[in-house]
Amino acid sequence: MMNEVNPWSSSQIEDYERMRKEFGIPEFNFDMDNNIFARRNLIIGHRDFSKIYESIKRKSKFYAMTGLMPSGDMHIGNKTVIDLIIYFQSKGADVHIAVADLESYATRGISLERGRQLAVENFLLNYIALGLKPCDFYFQSESAKVQKFSYILSKEVNMSEMKAIYGFEDAKRMLEIESPLIQASDILSPQIYGGPAPTIVPVGADQDPHIRLTRDISSRMNIFRLNTENGIEISIGGNDDPADAMKIAEKTLRSNNADKIYKNPKYRTVRADGENVDLFNLTEDLAMAERTINKFSTIAPSSIIMRLETGIKGGKMSKSVPESTISLNEDPESARKKIMRGVTGGRETVEEQKKLGGNPYACPIFELYMYHLSKDDKDLGSIAEDCKSGKRMCGECKREAADRMSTMLVELREKREEARTKIDQYIRVENEL
Ligand code: TRP
Repeated sequence: MMNEVNPWSSSQIEDYERMRKEFGIPEFNFDMDNNIFARRNLIIGHRDFSKIYESIKRKSKFYAMTGLMPSGDMHIGNKTVIDLIIYFQSKGADVHIAVADLESYATRGISLERGRQLAVENFLLNYIALGLKPCDFYFQSESAKVQKFSYILSKEVNMSEMKAIYGFEDAKRMLEIESPLIQASDILSPQIYGGPAPTIVPVGADQDPHIRLTRDISSRMNIFRLNTENGIEISIGGNDDPADAMKIAEKTLRSNNADKIYKNPKYRTVRADGENVDLFNLTEDLAMAERTINKFSTIAPSSIIMRLETGIKGGKMSKSVPESTISLNEDPESARKKIMRGVTGGRETVEEQKKLGGNPYACPIFELYMYHLSKDDKDLGSIAEDCKSGKRMCGECKREAADRMSTMLVELREKREEARTKIDQYIRVENEL
């Protein structure tokens, strides 16, 4: 079961409903200000998104974080996450992007030099071309900060846990085993070095195990554990004398209007009545206050989980199957050929399709429109209707998709050239620790 959502496996996740149940992932029903992916139900779940929702509403500080594996071209399947990062940036997020060059070195044998080149030429330039504004873009292999924190947090994880999550066997190389820990450090580092704040990590459904692990690590490293099921209870982790921590917890509760505060040193808890308490503020204030006794306190990162786009030929979209996807640096003619050879939700014959209509909801070409080629819901709706009613045939539909894709690719090519002059505003130059 576990291995079906292993981030390195290449099977498509068929049944999101089951995945949500099995891993306790709530459905996503937030109003994201008309964001295209939310509107089209391409977000299949989330972890703790309410923190991000509140941060946006209150205009308070939050981070948006993602990473990229520089092991080949950036393709349309990688574009969705960046579209979302750009969306959160427009909502005020402080954006950090990790180049997982250590991971691609470990798992794909890509040299660090090649990884750097791919990351800048194929990813960063496209990110800027897609609309990403200046942010923090760094290389795992060059960040002493991220590496250092990855060592520190690895104290919280043991081998049986890593095996249970990722199915690692004894023959795995150590750097592969370390990769998820470096990634956890990617996700928590903005908070470690920039102060605690909610963090959103948009991920494909296959990356959820990483998020679960990182959330666990975050909570294990915190001294304060906030439980709000029955009033407010803050328990004090660790074995040190809890007196100082309890004082800080009490003070934070007071400044958040909590009533009836009751400290129990034996059980290491501080309880309170939470009626007048704003839990969002309390969570942030606690993480902040904890910094005076624990410099590794963080707020558990949130995620939104994206439905994985189907490959153009059906099955999983993946750069290891070149005909299943289109690179953003691809020549429009080659993209056109792939689309024309794509699988559709059409019928066996034209006659049948005219009579019975096609099925846009089981059609990789329709997905291209949905994710990338149709921004306007009316337009998308009429494509779907004309398909279902038998008015729109697959050949013309593919040709139109190819035309739109070609326009997009040409536009990106032009914008990449402009972007080249701006990369210094993104790439991190890290000072010594
Ligand atoms: N493992 C991710 C991938 O396969 C890349 C990655 C590295 C990442 N660090 C991250 C993703 C932090 C999200 C957050 O593409």
